[in-house]
Amino acid sequence: MEIKAILGNIYEIECDALVAGMFEGEKPEEGLLAEIDNRTGGVIASLVETGEFTGKSAESAYIHNPGGMKARRLLLLGAGKQEEFNTDSVRKMAGTAARTMRGKKARSFAFVHPPAWAASAELPIGESAQAATEGALLSLFDPDKYHTSDKTENHLETMILAASNGDADALKSGVERGRIIAEAANFARDVINEPSNVMTPTELARKAGETAKSYGLELEVLEEAHMKDLGMGSLLGVAQGSAEPAKLIVLRYTPKAASDETIAIVGKGVTFDTGGISIKASDGMEKMKYDMAGGATTIAAMRAIAQLKPAVNVLGVVPAVENMPGGRAQRPGDVVRSMSGKTIEVINTDAEGRLILCDAISYARKLGATKIVDLATLTGAVSVALGDVYVAILGNNQEWIDEVIAASKRAGEKLWQLPLTSEYREQIKSEIADIKNVGGRKAGTITAAYFLREFVDDVPWAHLDIAGTAWNENGKPHLAVGPTGVCVRTLVSLVCG
Ligand code: BES
Ligand code: ZN
Ligand code: ZN
Repeated sequence: MEIKAILGNIYEIECDALVAGMFEGEKPEEGLLAEIDNRTGGVIASLVETGEFTGKSAESAYIHNPGGMKARRLLLLGAGKQEEFNTDSVRKMAGTAARTMRGKKARSFAFVHPPAWAASAELPIGESAQAATEGALLSLFDPDKYHTSDKTENHLETMILAASNGDADALKSGVERGRIIAEAANFARDVINEPSNVMTPTELARKAGETAKSYGLELEVLEEAHMKDLGMGSLLGVAQGSAEPAKLIVLRYTPKAASDETIAIVGKGVTFDTGGISIKASDGMEKMKYDMAGGATTIAAMRAIAQLKPAVNVLGVVPAVENMPGGRAQRPGDVVRSMSGKTIEVINTDAEGRLILCDAISYARKLGATKIVDLATLTGAVSVALGDVYVAILGNNQEWIDEVIAASKRAGEKLWQLPLTSEYREQIKSEIADIKNVGGRKAGTITAAYFLREFVDDVPWAHLDIAGTAWNENGKPHLAVGPTGVCVRTLVSLVCG
């Protein structure tokens, strides 16, 4: 879908629908709403009077042949509470608009750009254009790739961001940036959505290779023999139960002007997690295809970074393995030696994410990372703590954590910090080795992060546990069920500002 910005008379725009927002409890007495109400012979006033439309967020009203405008329909969307309105509201409204209009078989719609009517929110026009673009493009993703019939039809060709005036350049660059980021997130969702018989570690490496080629990134894929030479016994221990060979995927972005700083993004790429010998219950196990969401998100973020060209070196490191209970699988009680030299007692083979990430983190450090952010569908416990609403963030450096949180706020994603103090180290002490890979029932998200911390040492590091947020169980008006692409936006905002 093309996204155009048009500055001028919004009623003159020829399209299938004009989409306008209304705050909760607002009356069409002034501004844009009053104007639309007048032109349509009081349609909004009557919807408000009957209580049919109140302006609550996610509410909508669809008016046929409204008159007073060239658009054939009028779609009114609830904008929620005026005092809570922000760029993320714009993202969600544009998403609801695009999904709704796609459902109506529309080809085009004009989204009245919120800075034109929500003056009190003081939305910068470029940021708002970016958010609207992201919202619309993200909303049109659907996970039905393998449907051979009843596929979601999409006739949408154009979304017009309509306003009577504004800075045309800011609008244009906001739309461009929004498109780059949303297309990257949708790429991540596509990769995450693939079943595990397709998306093997080898295939994930191939995807990374395609990305590198298309967007001008450097690619290195380490094979098992190379990882063995580097001493990555922890990662290889997880891979040994599978017939699929492990890959360590490294994407590298280098800016034009040399920079001292290298940000490493490290993403868990378990293409299927059976649990290994500590096998999972079969109910819902099919979902474990999304255990590579962190890895896909890393590749997607690198794709957007390559296009936005920040002034810092960036590494994307994805340890890709399949966790299977084959005849050569590692056993509970096995002791493995990680690349760092630290020995690990594998108590539970289902706590495999941390076992591959620790070696990937060591490799990122070897490549010169000065700051690390890792992301992983690491623990079921994060859903117990934060549900499917917040991503958990933990780390060893408050400044860096705060930077990541600030980036998430700019990007409209939700992060919540959990503590990571030394009391939790007790839970992962091992009798036989330096550390063990599980810390018991309590504080599962924290002990998993603590395990990783032991391999990071003093490099500023933040860890994002996306197990609760990477998959959306219930569709929303602005978002399909399935992979969410969570954190692509945060990572891009972190690296590119
Ligand atoms: N991949 C899972 C975590 C997960 C759970 C992701 C639910 C998405 C949804 C991870 O490898 C795992 O199995 N973690 C265990 C750790 C436990 C054995 C300490 C868990 O959370 O149960
Ligand atoms: Zn597991
Ligand atoms: Zn896992």
